[in-house]
Amino acid sequence: MARDKYSVLLPTYNERENLPIIIWLLCKYFDESKIDYEIIVIDDGSPDGTLEVAKQLQDIYGDKHIVLRPREKKLGLGTAYIHGIRHATGNFVIIMDADLSHHPKFIPEFIKKQREGNYDVVSGTRYRGNGGVYGWDLRRKIISRGANYITQIFLRPGASDLTGSFRLYRKEVLQKIVEACVSKGYVFQMEIIIRARQFGYTIGEVPISFVDRVYGESKLGGSEIIGFAKGLLYLFATT
Ligand code: GDD
Ligand code: MN
Repeated sequence: MARDKYSVLLPTYNERENLPIIIWLLCKYFDESKIDYEIIVIDDGSPDGTLEVAKQLQDIYGDKHIVLRPREKKLGLGTAYIHGIRHATGNFVIIMDADLSHHPKFIPEFIKKQREGNYDVVSGTRYRGNGGVYGWDLRRKIISRGANYITQIFLRPGASDLTGSFRLYRKEVLQKIVEACVSKGYVFQMEIIIRARQFGYTIGEVPISFVDRVYGESKLGGSEIIGFAKGLLYLFATT
């Protein structure tokens, strides 16, 4: 247990303002709890200079803790995760957004939960206990609730938050799941949980608050929503 190492995957696209704060918080929580970790930043050629900021942060915190695995251009969130997993050296992987919507303070709770139940996956949930969403407009709330509700009915996945991405995985479990996944983009999150259930992996849940970003803007647009609907139908038809 003492030798556990956590690899945090941080995909970034135009997160120059957010990156210094999230990395500072992550290092603080991991250092305070004396947990071994690395933060893998997967930047997709952000035009705002996110990668340059990441390099400065690497100088400050060291290349043991800050690992840069950039890609040339914006290739999407799903493949960014796959790229990150390939480079992860920890036995656990944590996936989260870099825009501070996912607060690093929940990570110690994820780790505690994982150890308590020896879970394969621990999923943050906005839809249970003290979990919640702050700062979204009604449209975004309805889309998220709707996507979760419809997926619950169609696929009965055994987890309360299917579209959230703040989760902890055993690395080999995540690798197996990802190999089986067909979707790219935002629907990936949902497919991961469906596949986890399909393979019989155990899932623990931790209530989280999702706070909408202050800096920059969301990359989720209409085409992502259509992609989600298509992905859902595909999974319904095939699992
Ligand atoms: N490398 C890379 N490439 N990173 C990306 C890309 C990409 O193509 N697109 C987005 N990101 C990064 C962003 O910089 C951010 O760190 C994270 O991925 C999430 O992107 P946002 O654009 O902030 O997503 P959101 O806030 O609209 O959506 C959140 O909620 C959704 C629904 O609950 C995310 O948590 C989604 O993963 C989630 O499905
Ligand atoms: Mn966001």
